[in-house]
Amino acid sequence: MDQLTIKAPDDWHVHFRDGDLLAETVAATARCFKRAIAMPNLRPPITKQAQALAYRKRILDAAGEHSDFNPLMTLYLTDETQPEHIKQAASKIIPAAKLYPAGATTNSESAVGSIEKLFPVFEAMAEHGMLLLVHGEVPDPEVDVFDREKEFIDQHLAPIHVSFPNLKIVFEHITTCEAVDFVLQTGDNVAATITPQHLMMNRNDLLAGGIRPHNYCMPVLKRRRHQNRLREVVSSGSPKFFLGSDSAPHEQHAKENACGCAGCYSAWGALELYAEVFEELGAIDKLEGFASIHGPSFYGLSLNRESITLVRDFWTMPKSIALADGRSIVPFYAGQRLRWRVEI
Ligand code: NCD
Ligand code: ZN
Repeated sequence: MDQLTIKAPDDWHVHFRDGDLLAETVAATARCFKRAIAMPNLRPPITKQAQALAYRKRILDAAGEHSDFNPLMTLYLTDETQPEHIKQAASKIIPAAKLYPAGATTNSESAVGSIEKLFPVFEAMAEHGMLLLVHGEVPDPEVDVFDREKEFIDQHLAPIHVSFPNLKIVFEHITTCEAVDFVLQTGDNVAATITPQHLMMNRNDLLAGGIRPHNYCMPVLKRRRHQNRLREVVSSGSPKFFLGSDSAPHEQHAKENACGCAGCYSAWGALELYAEVFEELGAIDKLEGFASIHGPSFYGLSLNRESITLVRDFWTMPKSIALADGRSIVPFYAGQRLRWRVEI
């Protein structure tokens, strides 16, 4: 097969950042995705409706020629979030709120200390049809970094789901067999996103033969057996799993650092990277469901009417992306060859 046309896709988990970076990040996502869920972990975080709407406007302003790009916004849950904030914000353009356990990842220091204290907020979310997006890792320094997702399921996610069966939950960027099993075993209100890096790589790609900071993200890459389980479940075509790239730019110096930041900037090749994986798995026919159907169906939104064509045409991911003032970002998969290209 040399060409593949699918319904236009959406990216259900993206970090655009803010300010002058938006020109870069928004264009990179809007080149092929019609909608994207914009993560709220700015400094300060987006915690209220007015901030979310103002941030959305800045993203739209940066979209330039991609005038039909539709960013969907999220609130960042903190210990101060009240049910009233949810009631006010819940809408088609702010369909979700994000739960980061405090200290779990980039800019999460203002996040939630006690998840149980948020139960009235979860109740309001279920009532107003707002989705709960979770970064599912316990930040406990006593828990091994490779076990933090598994622990989160037992300590928090399962109890939240049992207490609020009507709350729609997206278990974001899952990385383990245990997360796949949890999502498959729970009812229709639990789904998950999976990133390209967790499908393409395992922890050897991070740690064997030298530390590779550009493959470092949270949740950290796991063993091959977990990677294989993620690959297996996306090739099954289960509607509970969909595209969320977690594209998360950090400047080169912040990644290539004695204490490097977590995050892979995959937007330049997000759809193409997934296409590569699905083809390797002999499941290219399942790409459209994963990229364009399961996400909007779970969010209760309409499918995109437009389509997009991928052509077989080798290209190489740039080694570096130049920003203003001599700054730069090294994209995920930098310098490596991809098999599929989005036809523009
Ligand atoms: C994200 C970031 O850089 O904002 N980093 C990451 O490794 N995924 C935050 C997050 O989603 O955890
Ligand atoms: Zn993220």
